[in-house]
Amino acid sequence: MKKKLVCLCNMVTSAEIEAALSAGACTTEGIQNKTGAGTNCGKCLVEIDTMVDEFNRNRKPDPQQKFDF
Ligand code: FES
Repeated sequence: MKKKLVCLCNMVTSAEIEAALSAGACTTEGIQNKTGAGTNCGKCLVEIDTMVDEFNRNRKPDPQQKFDF
């Protein structure tokens, strides 16, 4: 994916958000905590939500969550 600026307020790029997603921040709140994106005006939150949803949709299922007791 091409690197672009997602959060203008905090100068956070798509590459930084993807790195945070890969490091385990798989919610919008997690991305906010890890990168600071979306913590000022909030205009970028829709794009961050979309990136989080896409990441989680494409993520391989955790084998530990296979069983629901
Ligand atoms: S553009 Fe991300 S908080 Fe303003």
